[in-house]
Amino acid sequence: MLKVENLYKTFAKNKPDEKNIFNGLNFCAKAGEFITIIGGNGAGKSTLMNIIAGQTLPDKGKVYIDGSDITYTPQHKRAKAIGRVFQDPLKGTAPALTVEENLAMAMLKNSPKNLKFAIGQKISDQMKQKLSCLNLGLQDRLKSKVGLLSGGQRQALTLLMATIAEPKVLLLDEPTSALDPKSQDNILELIEKISNNSTMITLMITHNMEHATRLGTRTIMIKSGKIQMDISGSHRKNMNPNF
Ligand SMILES: Nc1ncnc2c1ncn2[C@@H]1O[C@H](COP(=O)(O)OP(=O)(O)OP(=O)(O)O)[C@@H](O)[C@H]1O
Ligand SMILES: [Mg+2]
Repeated sequence: MLKVENLYKTFAKNKPDEKNIFNGLNFCAKAGEFITIIGGNGAGKSTLMNIIAGQTLPDKGKVYIDGSDITYTPQHKRAKAIGRVFQDPLKGTAPALTVEENLAMAMLKNSPKNLKFAIGQKISDQMKQKLSCLNLGLQDRLKSKVGLLSGGQRQALTLLMATIAEPKVLLLDEPTSALDPKSQDNILELIEKISNNSTMITLMITHNMEHATRLGTRTIMIKSGKIQMDISGSHRKNMNPNF
C-alpha cells in the first residue's frame, strides 16, 4: 500500500516566483494497482513522484509504503522499494557502461561494490533471459555500450532495470513521450506485461488520454494542488477531464 497524506508543497516560498503546488493532497494505492495520472503542465505530477521517491521533501504531509513512514527517508535508502522511469531515455541508464554492467547495477541496487564479482555465467544467463522478453534483440548485445542503443531500446532497458529488483512502487513519468509511435506501443506493452499479475504499485503520468484510459485500472487527475478526479474501471472511457 502506498499512502500520500495531506501533502503541502510550495516552491520559492515568500519569493516573487512563489509556486504553490500541493494544498492537502491525499492519495492511496493498493498493492497491484496500476494508476494513470493526468493533469495540465505544471500541475505537480512530477513533483508528486519526486516526493514519493525522496528527491523533493514536502512542506507538510506524509508518505507511507506498507505502513512505514518514508517521508524523510533518504532517497538512496528507499531506492530498493521504488523503481523510476523518466521521459528522457538518456536519464535511466549509464551510457558509457555496457548493457550487462547497467543491468548488474540495477540487480545489485544495494551493493554496487560487488559489481565485477556479480557478472558470472549464471547472472549473464539470467540477464539474457530477461532481455529476450523485451523482443528487441538486446540479449545479443550484453557487451554493447548503452550509449549506442536507440531511444526505444534504451527506454526498454531502463524499464527492465527499474523493475528487476522487484520494487514495491514503479514511477513512470511520461515514459513514452519521447519515442516514436512503434516504440511507444512496445514500451506500453512491456509496462503492461511487467505490471500484470504483480503486487507492484504502478503510477504512470501521461498527457495521452488514450494511454491514460487504456492502461491500468484507475485514473487520477491533479489540479489546484489536489486530486480532482479519481475514476476506476469502465467509467474511465467516458471521462472528460477539464485540466
Ligand atoms: N525544484 C523546483 N524548484 C522550483 N520550482 C519547481 C521545482 N520543481 C518544480 N517546480 C515548479 O513546480 C510546478 C510543478 O512542476 P511539475 O514538474 O511537478 O509539473 P508537472 O505536472 O509534472 O508538469 P508537466 O506536465 O509539464 O511535466 C512547475 O511550475 C515547476 O516549474
Ligand atoms: Mg512532469
